[in-house]
Amino acid sequence: MLPLRGVCLLVFSILFPAKVTLLENGLARTPPMGWMSWGYYMCGDDCGRNPLKCLDEKLILSVVDSFFDEGYQEVGFEYIIIDDCWSEKSRDMYGRLVPNKERFPRGMKFIADYIHARGLKFGMYTNIADVTCMLYPGSKNFFDIDAKSFAEWGVDYLKVDGCFVQESYLDTAYIDLGRALNSTKRQMVYSCSWPYYLQYIHNRRPNYSPIAKHCNMWRNFHDVALDWKYVIAIIHNYIDEYPKINEYHGPGHWNDPDMLILGTRTLTPGQSRVQLAVYAMMSAPLLLSCDMKMITPEEKQLLQNTELIAIGQDPLGIMATPYRLSGVRIIYVKKHLPMKGDYYHSFSVAMVNLDQKPSKFTFTLADHGISAPDGYTVMNVFTKVYEKNVTSSDEFEIEVPPEDVTLYSLFPL
Ligand SMILES: *[C@@H]1O[C@H](CO)[C@@H](O)[C@H](O)[C@H]1NC(C)=O
Ligand SMILES: *[C@@H]1O[C@H](CO)[C@@H](O)[C@H](O)[C@H]1NC(C)=O
Repeated sequence: MLPLRGVCLLVFSILFPAKVTLLENGLARTPPMGWMSWGYYMCGDDCGRNPLKCLDEKLILSVVDSFFDEGYQEVGFEYIIIDDCWSEKSRDMYGRLVPNKERFPRGMKFIADYIHARGLKFGMYTNIADVTCMLYPGSKNFFDIDAKSFAEWGVDYLKVDGCFVQESYLDTAYIDLGRALNSTKRQMVYSCSWPYYLQYIHNRRPNYSPIAKHCNMWRNFHDVALDWKYVIAIIHNYIDEYPKINEYHGPGHWNDPDMLILGTRTLTPGQSRVQLAVYAMMSAPLLLSCDMKMITPEEKQLLQNTELIAIGQDPLGIMATPYRLSGVRIIYVKKHLPMKGDYYHSFSVAMVNLDQKPSKFTFTLADHGISAPDGYTVMNVFTKVYEKNVTSSDEFEIEVPPEDVTLYSLFPL
């Protein structure tokens, strides 16, 4: 995104070639950004009774137009992903999935072409069982046929759910479907729900090695829903799991805390800043799920804040280290580009206040291992103002409003 960061990436990739045990299909070098239907539209198949939550061609094309016309594409929003409930209830005579004839009358290739003509990318959904989570046809026993359909339609990203199967099948099916996708020769970001189902449905701790070897991204935790309390649960889960998941996180393979809920009239402005800042600090995928027309001007400005997006899209892709000062006060510290010389990285520091009253954060940069000898220049990410220059021993004393975040990027002087 920023030329300086690009140069640093090149230098970095020469010095530190990626580990060979991870999936390297060249995709998702930064966490995918885009829009996915599920969070807001859910199944969206009852358009007669619920026309405002209708998952159809018109909806998908309107999201494409919003991305293209309203500045989202320029800041990196790219993938437009159709989740569950897109097909007919039965396969055709050749065993192929068929797009729902009422809602997707011109088929998926038409949608893919429309998306690709605007320089954007197309995502779809399936499940590894014989039905999807919402009981549409699933891909079990049809991996090759379905992979071929997705490839022929021009799909660039596939979300694969894991409802209704045995624990042991999860460990083979995701690998087998990944192979089927690979053998189509079409590049598709492979998004797995594998560890989520192991941990929360089958009560087994995931072994992330095979998951990171076969998937570009994976869901670790429950679905988000349209309520602030889900965002809080996600934040706490990723702090608890951080020591186990952070080593698998990086270019080409990402932990995925599920969709953003901005644009759904669910969050206050402060809460929106918290969700987006924490996701950017984690280098999480940024997938909106909303009626694009409901995004407020304030949310739009936040989603198109290039300094914030640059933190999330930093080429190093390092998950911020979380420090819980209390149950409601968290500091995240993230190392990123650009570097000064060979030693001194830039950092971002997020002070997240989940309390319903203001909280004070007092710390020095040295407390968090941020210690370039000539100090740092400090930019407030939300205002883009360079506020001050500091040394690593200067004390920060910052009051963060209720359910809000203060976010600084620090560049070595
Ligand atoms: C298939 O897998 C190979 C080996 O991991 C990889 O180099 C290649 O890029 C993959 N191709 C596609 C289309 O995903
Ligand atoms: C920080 O230091 C740089 C380099 O010395 C200087 O150009 C800049 O004006 C300083 N910024 C502030 C806010 O003091």
